[in-house]
Amino acid sequence: MDKLVIRGGNRLSGTIPVSGAKNAALTLIPCTLLTEEPLTLRNLPRLADIDGFQHLMTQFGVSVSIQGKRPEDFGRVVTFEASRLTSSVAPYDLVRKMRASILVLGPMLARMGEATVSMPGGCAIGNRPIDLHLKALEAFGATIEMAQGYVKAIAPDGGLPGGDFDFPVVSVGATENALMAAVLANGTSRLFNAAREPEIVDLCNLLVAMGAEIENIGQSDLVIHGAKRLNGATYKVMPDRIEAGSYACAAAITGGDVRLEGAKASDMASTLHAMRNIGIEIDEDPKGINVRASGALKPVNLTTAPFPGLATDMQAQLMSLLCKAEGTSVLKETIFENRFMHVPELSRMGATIETEGRTAIVKGPADLTGAEVMATDLRASMSLIIAALAAEGETTVRRIYHLDRGYERLEEKLQLVGADIERVGDD
Ligand code: EPZ
Repeated sequence: MDKLVIRGGNRLSGTIPVSGAKNAALTLIPCTLLTEEPLTLRNLPRLADIDGFQHLMTQFGVSVSIQGKRPEDFGRVVTFEASRLTSSVAPYDLVRKMRASILVLGPMLARMGEATVSMPGGCAIGNRPIDLHLKALEAFGATIEMAQGYVKAIAPDGGLPGGDFDFPVVSVGATENALMAAVLANGTSRLFNAAREPEIVDLCNLLVAMGAEIENIGQSDLVIHGAKRLNGATYKVMPDRIEAGSYACAAAITGGDVRLEGAKASDMASTLHAMRNIGIEIDEDPKGINVRASGALKPVNLTTAPFPGLATDMQAQLMSLLCKAEGTSVLKETIFENRFMHVPELSRMGATIETEGRTAIVKGPADLTGAEVMATDLRASMSLIIAALAAEGETTVRRIYHLDRGYERLEEKLQLVGADIERVGDD
């Protein structure tokens, strides 16, 4: 297994290209199941999770062709064609490696009239139930069966009637599954308290490009008029707001001056607002954002929330940055029950952080020193990289396969702006 070795202290400066959004791509790819025509996605990030999802598509008989892109380029153009599906089952050995596979349930059900997906199970940050995915599909007229660790959704003969569903909890994935089922239902469906994340808007924009009829895109009450069939499309994946926010924190903790080329500021308003309150200078323009940190960092109190609130996926990265703030910050994690896996590792680097339930109290400024640390989940791993960039000495981060799931060519991007970081094979 590879590891990353970082020697801290370099001030980052220069431009980092922002890749296509992992969490948008993972819901755009299964849309290919909704049409017999080719679906071409541009700006697909080169990530382990995306490769895994492409492989899952081939299990159903979907053809996947990766268009030419120079090896040095970031991102790919991939054409999917689901003209003839040979299976509607997502097997355990694939789903267990990538829980986002549950996102084939809605579109497969809509297209084939039934879908069987291995239960995804939990992960490091929580038990990650899928009850809301299933309740939404039942509200549209599906029958749900659970057996031998698999969930099977069955539509009535003639297809899903459609219906109304009011989400008791905002759920990104459940909203995505519901949308991808409703677009081919026989009638009109309404979703209340739906997630409003930019990735949901990206999904709605693709579905509309394929011929779907969706009202109130970007709002929490969505109306979907079912279509008989959808067409293929060519669509560019939105920029990754969490990747951009992560590199913004990396620039800031080093007192750097970095441009995030391709970042969409309006998708990351809550993160940029938090960073401005910490004392970071942020300049936005239509093609990206500039991040400049020169003065002292100020402590702030942060609480994660569904969009447009502060993204839970940015909590760990901001916590690393706040280790260097001059004072005490309080971070509240309201979305997942176990999203402080980075705290023990940051503490080994010299951070002073106390956790009480879903609240973390960060005392700064900490003199961070390099250490051997272990990545646990995707965003926790990034928080260790951010801390290492400002730590005295050398940090080794092991189990970086967690990072490769969500950050495209991470060390190359950080090397572009002067970080002393290298990937080495683990001895
Ligand atoms: C998506 O996960 C993202 N993953 C996560 O990013 C992100 O943290 C999360 O949304 C919140 O923004 C992808 O898009 C692939 P949820 P998802 O359903 O859809 C509860 C990353 O680092 N819930 O919005 O699984 C759930 O337990 C990943 O890129 C139910 O109770 O998140 C959680 O407390 C990590 N029942 C809350 O809702 C359900 O059926 C929000 O989860 C579904 C969810």
